Amino acid sequence: MTQTLLLLPGDGIGPEVTEQAQRVAECLVPELKFETALIGGAALDQEGQPLSVETLVKAKQSDAVLLGAVGGPKWAGVERNLRPEMGLLQLRKGMDVFANLRPAYCFPALVEASSLKRDRVDGLDIMIVRELTSGVYFGEPRGVERGLGDKSFGFETSRYTAGEIKRVARVAFDIARGRRGQVHSTEKSNVMESGHFWRETVSALHETEGEGVTLSHILADACAMELVREPKQFDVILAGNLFGDLLSDAAAMLTGSIGMLPSASLSVEGAPGLYEPVHGSAPDIAGQGLANPCAAILSLEMALRWSLGRPDLADQLFAAVGRALEAGARSRDLGGELGTEEMAEAILDCL
Ligand code: NAD
Ligand code: IPM
Ligand code: MN
Repeated sequence: MTQTLLLLPGDGIGPEVTEQAQRVAECLVPELKFETALIGGAALDQEGQPLSVETLVKAKQSDAVLLGAVGGPKWAGVERNLRPEMGLLQLRKGMDVFANLRPAYCFPALVEASSLKRDRVDGLDIMIVRELTSGVYFGEPRGVERGLGDKSFGFETSRYTAGEIKRVARVAFDIARGRRGQVHSTEKSNVMESGHFWRETVSALHETEGEGVTLSHILADACAMELVREPKQFDVILAGNLFGDLLSDAAAMLTGSIGMLPSASLSVEGAPGLYEPVHGSAPDIAGQGLANPCAAILSLEMALRWSLGRPDLADQLFAAVGRALEAGARSRDLGGELGTEEMAEAILDCL
């Protein structure tokens, strides 16, 4: 049966990098069917909301979704629940993609592009498993109470249920079993109730379902420090929504550029996955053809592996990106001269 990949290019550099990922997909999987829909600011401008019901339905009916990026200064003033970023949060929640895999892998050719010394990142291969559909991003109640002068306040709720923690921790354990068998679970159990509950729940799950996995707990601030001090000590890092967001941007710099980092967001078995670069819409370089398309292309690689049942093609694509970098292909963020299209061209040549 023909598989469908839904493209959600979004805003800023989103459409630029998604177009290149589509070219690679057309070359690798000629039988793949593409659909395209709007999300983020582009959807708000044309459809009056950052994610329409129709687009969410399309996403759920596809085999995988490849998203570019959302947001930008153009929509800085719009009402909060219409912000482009809300479209992305609604999509993640609507697809129930609770397990966000963010690999921080340093390609051998990019060891010198990292802001860390060679010996710290040479051979680096970390998988961050970030919970994506709950925590402080979604917890209720939330809001802003105005008109109270200095006593006005803004607030949200950091809430995790045992079920939400267990299902993402299970994914982290499973992934660790296929790697070096080590999971660092991170939270702020020293100050947060939800963090304390997270630690307790992950520990209990490890007792019953943690065979073959060594579990350590580390406070999120210490984890950030250790990521830049001795990053190779980590195999799988398990984090909630907020800390996973912060730690994955920090991990990006270990790999050379945020333009290199893909992600896969997975739901339950058989449901479509959502694939997107870790980077945003990069308003500072949007429209100039300068964006690095690798994160988008590697997100396609993850889609081939995790949703489209083609790990063989994923391996080929991963190797082609490695060879292109080996041959000296570099976009500007990696210290080179290549534009978005030329960078994708270099990868296609290696395919
Ligand atoms: P950003 O990731 O867009 O940009 C941070 C820096 O990295 C910028 O200097 C940018 O030029 C550079 N950069 C990012 N991607 C790059 C690429 N592929 N190639 C070369 N350089 C790249 O983060 P930001 O500036 O904090 O956010 C901009 C907007 O994007 C905001 O509206 C934010 O909410 C949104 N955002 C969206 C997503 C997403 O859609 N998944 C993720 C992060 C941020
Ligand atoms: C990311 C982004 C998003 C997040 C924003 C744009 C909603 O920063 O995917 O890392 O915070 O999850
Ligand atoms: Mn982020």
